[in-house]
Amino acid sequence: RKIVIFASGSGSNAEKIILHFKNSDSVVVSAVFSNKPDAKVLEKAENLGVSTVLFDRNSLSDGTVLTKINAIQPDLIVLAGFLWKFPESIIEHYPGKIINIHPALLPKYGGKGMYGMNVHRAILENGEEKTGITIHYVNEHYDEGGIVFQAEVSVVDCTTPEAVAAKVQELEHEHFPKVIENLLRK
Ligand code: GRF
Repeated sequence: RKIVIFASGSGSNAEKIILHFKNSDSVVVSAVFSNKPDAKVLEKAENLGVSTVLFDRNSLSDGTVLTKINAIQPDLIVLAGFLWKFPESIIEHYPGKIINIHPALLPKYGGKGMYGMNVHRAILENGEEKTGITIHYVNEHYDEGGIVFQAEVSVVDCTTPEAVAAKVQELEHEHFPKVIENLLRK
């Protein structure tokens, strides 16, 4: 079974996923796609022997990226820190095969503007006692596809967004590869 990952950030989740399946005889991470030439995720993927595909906004919407995905025929497309809206033209071709990870407990703290530190800052500002992660299917609306998995963590001892981020990231690294493995088993 084949996975492709879309990421535009540091790629710590992509790295965990690649390492998780490194010695698997049934699952392979076929490629990492990124829209950011200087994204750390590209370096990490290359160091781990995973091929990378760099693309721009036009090629995401005009079918060029879709053609590249189709050449791989992935069983699962994983968005791991990919911030652009995923085009409907790709979603249509891979129904139920695209998942995203969001650093909060959806449906709260999702939608436009709710990414990265913005999310963690909002959690503290609202005095939330807990936050978490949501792994969900991607549909045409931001952060609204069916939920596959959630895990939560207490933030009562957190005083900075960075502290919240660290806790959330730990959850992501612990669960994301396993959730992917389970989805691919179905
Ligand atoms: C994660 O927190 C993920 O939830 C969010 O973007 C971040 C990506 O981090 N959508 P990394 O690039 O995997 O380190």
